[in-house]
Amino acid sequence: AFDITSLRQKTGYITYDPGFGNTGSCASAITFMDGERGILRYRGIPIEDLAENATFIETAYLLINGHLPTLNELNRTRVLLNDFSLIHESMQVFFQNFPRASHPMGILSGMIMALRSFYPDMGEEDINIHFLYLLSKVRTMAAMSYRMSRGEKVVYPRHDLSYCANFLNMMFDSPVHPYIVDEDLVRALNVFLILHADHEQNCSTSAVRVVGSSKAPLYASIAAGVSALWGPLHGGANQAVIEMLEKILKEGATIDEVIRRAKDRKDPFRLMGFGHRVYKTYDPRAKIIKKMCDKILEKLKIEDPLLDIAKKLEEVALTDPYFVDHNLYPNVDFYSGIVLRAMRIPTNMFPVMFAIGRLPGWIAQWKESMEDPSQRISRPRQIYTGLPQNPFQDIMER
Ligand code: ACO
Repeated sequence: AFDITSLRQKTGYITYDPGFGNTGSCASAITFMDGERGILRYRGIPIEDLAENATFIETAYLLINGHLPTLNELNRTRVLLNDFSLIHESMQVFFQNFPRASHPMGILSGMIMALRSFYPDMGEEDINIHFLYLLSKVRTMAAMSYRMSRGEKVVYPRHDLSYCANFLNMMFDSPVHPYIVDEDLVRALNVFLILHADHEQNCSTSAVRVVGSSKAPLYASIAAGVSALWGPLHGGANQAVIEMLEKILKEGATIDEVIRRAKDRKDPFRLMGFGHRVYKTYDPRAKIIKKMCDKILEKLKIEDPLLDIAKKLEEVALTDPYFVDHNLYPNVDFYSGIVLRAMRIPTNMFPVMFAIGRLPGWIAQWKESMEDPSQRISRPRQIYTGLPQNPFQDIMER
């Protein structure tokens, strides 16, 4: 325990807010969240309307530029995203040398850092081009890392395909089994990416802003976002949910046992895909993805036992006093993994899918912070709890 009175005498007033639960770190006009009522809006537009009507690229444009693109703006963006979709052939050597079992998030973070070095002729002045570079090439690199991890030949992006169709084609096309683009899956991927596109000052976005605040390059800031997203309490949760559901299925645990473990504070186990720092009600993104999950599985005629387990867990948790008292509801990750599985995306790629989706949000937030004259270098204080003073001891006397 620390003595707050003596601390104030020594340092003046400092807000003690572990995990920054009550700290507004910036002013932002990008994303509105109301955690009590379960509302999420990008630039004022409800997430439900964007999921219903927009593409991921329109949403990315909206977040970064502040308005939905006109037809001309959208066409120009599409052309540029196509133009920038290839990555330097020499970068393939990097991919080839990662050990087979490497996690794709580690590869992605490293490759984003490397990306800038491969294009030294591009000046920093046209930052909008760098934004499109990232949006286009991160998608190509994500698909490449998957192909390489399986020892398969890389599939190059195609100019005739949309952003999402191109990604699926780069992942799954092969000379033996040519990939047939399924428009329902393309739509589902668009919705998945839209739902993940921004979420105000979450862990990874804060990491992007903190790194950017030292005036480190855009690429370094985005790579920091990927690293922060990797953890199972954030973007790694979609992978952790599926692993949890698979374990329940394999071990034959009952729903009541799982819920009991999640409530036991002595057990580190948590119900993955449940709970949120801001939402104290049902996550609006989870509502949309749950509906989409049912639709996609029905369309593809897939019977996934993991979906049944997830639904039963939700049913029990939503009426359990512990979950009700703690305001623990499904978050976006609870059902998103099941949608990705239906698309044949492997589990260790799930956080990468989240990263592709969150990229426009990171870019928009980085841009906003660079344009904000009131932003200073991020430098929180601390509550020092160590020894006030400690004499140096010679090595022979320790
Ligand atoms: N299962 C069981 N209990 C939980 C869970 C859970 N999933 N989440 C929170 N709790 C409990 C905590 O044990 C704590 O209980 P206590 O007050 O009795 O000690 C209380 O609820 C508050 O939890 P905190 O960890 O303090 O909440 P915080 O806001 O710091 O964390 C988080 C939020 C990380 C999302 C947490 O709910 C969690 O770990 N959930 C599981 C992982 C997950 O799904 N992450 C994805 C988040 S969404 C996203 O990033 C897209």
